[in-house]
Order: sequence, then C-alpha cells, then structure tokens
Amino acid sequence: MKIFIDTANINEIEQALELGACDGVTTNPTLLAKEKGNPDDIYRAICERVQGPVCAEAISLEKKDIIQEGENLAAIADNMVVKIPASKDGLKAVRILESQGIRCNVTLVFSPMQALLAAKAGASFICPFVGRLDDASHDGMELIEQITHIYQNYLMNTEIMVASIRSVTHVRDAAMIGADIATIPLKVIEKLTDHPLTDKGIELFIRDWEKVQKQF
Ligand code: G3P
Repeated sequence: MKIFIDTANINEIEQALELGACDGVTTNPTLLAKEKGNPDDIYRAICERVQGPVCAEAISLEKKDIIQEGENLAAIADNMVVKIPASKDGLKAVRILESQGIRCNVTLVFSPMQALLAAKAGASFICPFVGRLDDASHDGMELIEQITHIYQNYLMNTEIMVASIRSVTHVRDAAMIGADIATIPLKVIEKLTDHPLTDKGIELFIRDWEKVQKQF
C-alpha cells in the first residue's frame, strides 16, 4: 500500500520523506489555511520536493469553473493531481479533465455509488473519508470494503485512497482490505513505528550490552 502524507506543511513532508513514508501528498483548503503563503507557491514547492502525486483541491462549484481551476492547478507541475468533490458538476468536470490527461482525485466520497460513478467518470483516484464516517457513527472501513469489492467486480482501475485517517488501526485495516493508498497525517504516520515491546526490548538489549562490555 502506498502511503501519502495529508498535509500542506513542507517540514512535515520532509519528516515523512526521511521515514520513507511519502509516496505522495494530499492537501485540502483546511490544511492550506494552516500555512502561510500563496497556495500556488506552496503547491510548487511541494511538487518540486516530492516525486509522487501532489493533490490540490479545486473549490469551484460549477463544471466550467472546476475545469478552469483544474487546468490552472495542473499547469503548476507534472505531478499535480486535481482534487474534486463527488458532486454532479464535479464528476462532469472529472470526465473532461481526465480526457485531457489531467489526473483527478474525487474527494469527499461517502458512499459506494459515488465511488462507482467516480470510476466511470475516469477518475485516477478517489478519497473515501473513513474518519468522518466513524465520527458520524457509521463504519468508515466498511465503505472501503464495499468500494474495493465493486472495483474488483468490474476491474476498475481507479485507485482507492483511504482518507480522513485518525488512527493506526485505520491504516492497518486499509492495508488488510487492500486499498491502493492511505493518506495519513504526520501524527499518525509517526505512530506506525510505535510499540511498547520494541521500546522495552531496546532497553533490555542496551542493559545486557553494558554487561557484555564490562567483561572486557
Ligand atoms: O485530505 C482529506 C482528509 O484526509 C481530511 O481528513 O481529518 O479533516 O476528516 P479530516
């Protein structure tokens, strides 16, 4: 499973790169609002630093405006991917942009039928939001299972990018189900290596190594 980092912060991206956990980047307007600077400059800097896809969200609501915004975003760099919400106008814009060779990521996906239509529109990626479904007392990972099943039934190539990840368990479940990508905030990426038995084991080995050293 590929790991993307869900951030617009270049320092966080550097940390994920160092850990080998940055196959790509997703941003959204909320993440951009936490950063200083012009969004296009931020996207440019991220695209220069990261080889994989970098997703930037179009915020227009009507098809023609989404297409225009998508074309502008795609012109920033070759690895730019346009995130477009799973609305009717959004999916119509995805069909046009993908036919022009601009990769799209259909975001704010909360149902299997949105995922099916996104794939039929030719989306390169979809982002189902598992954490927000869990927050609303639904089962986010069940949606990933359903979409995976549907895409397998019809040999659909759209990549499933699990988003709105809140925990290590979400990441594990995404990998168990066979999702293509998980886009993860840095605080969860950092927890992926944590285990109390690893810490305890390191402490024990250090103590025992000191005993070995004392013998010589
Ligand atoms: O990038 C979109 C998604 O990951 C947002 O997550 O935590 O705002 O639901 P969250």
